[in-house]
Amino acid sequence: MNSGTDTGLSQANTLFESYFGYKASHHSQAPGRVNLIGDHTDYIDGFVFPAALSLKTSFSFAKNNSNQVTAVSSGVGSETVFELNGSQVEDWGKYLAGVAWAFTEAGHTLSGLDIAIHSNVPTGSGLSSSAAIEVAAARAWRKIDNLDISDVELALLCKKAENDYVGIPCGILDQFACSVPDIGQAVVLDCKSLDYEVVSIPSEWLFVVINSNAQHNHDDSGYETRVKECQAIAEALGLEGLKGLRNLQADDAAKLSDATLQKRARHLFSENARVELAKTAMQSADAKHFGELMTESHISLRDDYQTSADAPDELMDACISFEGCHGSRITGGGFGGCVVSLINKKDKDAFVKHVLAQFPQGSYEAEVSA
Ligand code: GLA
Repeated sequence: MNSGTDTGLSQANTLFESYFGYKASHHSQAPGRVNLIGDHTDYIDGFVFPAALSLKTSFSFAKNNSNQVTAVSSGVGSETVFELNGSQVEDWGKYLAGVAWAFTEAGHTLSGLDIAIHSNVPTGSGLSSSAAIEVAAARAWRKIDNLDISDVELALLCKKAENDYVGIPCGILDQFACSVPDIGQAVVLDCKSLDYEVVSIPSEWLFVVINSNAQHNHDDSGYETRVKECQAIAEALGLEGLKGLRNLQADDAAKLSDATLQKRARHLFSENARVELAKTAMQSADAKHFGELMTESHISLRDDYQTSADAPDELMDACISFEGCHGSRITGGGFGGCVVSLINKKDKDAFVKHVLAQFPQGSYEAEVSA
């Protein structure tokens, strides 16, 4: 196998050979993602606007002629072993076992594999490290078992793994963004129809992702609590579940007697509207407007949805205090993690220097541009 100059793949290859004592026959990869705008709108069937990152999770693998998966990861440092169709896996192998379970439920027959994983998608940072591992695993089985599954179907199977096996009530944002767009592509996705549109990033724009290095953890209850609050909003308004919130309007929020639910609802409808406005701003190369929408989104997540945290708030303040920064926001599930900012390409070095001087515990993570 020729892994070219991809260091992630060659590290996965090296790990495979040293761990299993033979050479891998195949490889697969999946990117992390940054969400440019539209957070916590996917599980209400709304709109999101992510881009696939050049940070990737790389798998080297081979059939092991058994009914078992043995996987090792350079990041985790411990192996996971499980039987296909066996009992529930509790360690980090749950992401692989969840994908295997979802594929099997959909009627596919899978091979047992030896797998070595190397990832440079940071965990707990809002850049979809879990979805990247799920999509890389799904691509591995699609390839080695010649399964006829489209990229969108693959994303849906990975979401099923995350919802019904791993047990996180997430929407489709992460698995879609890690499966469907090419690296560097920004897409607006309608989470109801799964129709999506690739939107060209204007040539002088640069989205820079800085990590606050304050970790979030979806196993903590914050994310689930928000999903439950959305269910409560739907009930109070007599709507049919989470998906009924897609068309929420300002006057619906006013009908809610609970002040917390009112704030949550205000985020949902304003954020959903911002995605459409951001698409138009990008299409017309209006960096000022796109940036304003990003900053409004951060304020909404901070004050109304309350899924930000001190570290990303301070980091966002540092980003926005740079004169050429058009706008800045926390990205992903929240409660920590990364902040994404829109600047002009020419300002990159000055921007990163300015931000890290103000927020030294941060680190540059990634960027997206045309
Ligand atoms: C996490 C979830 C996604 C989405 C985002 C917030 O990343 O996995 O489904 O809800 O949070 O936009």
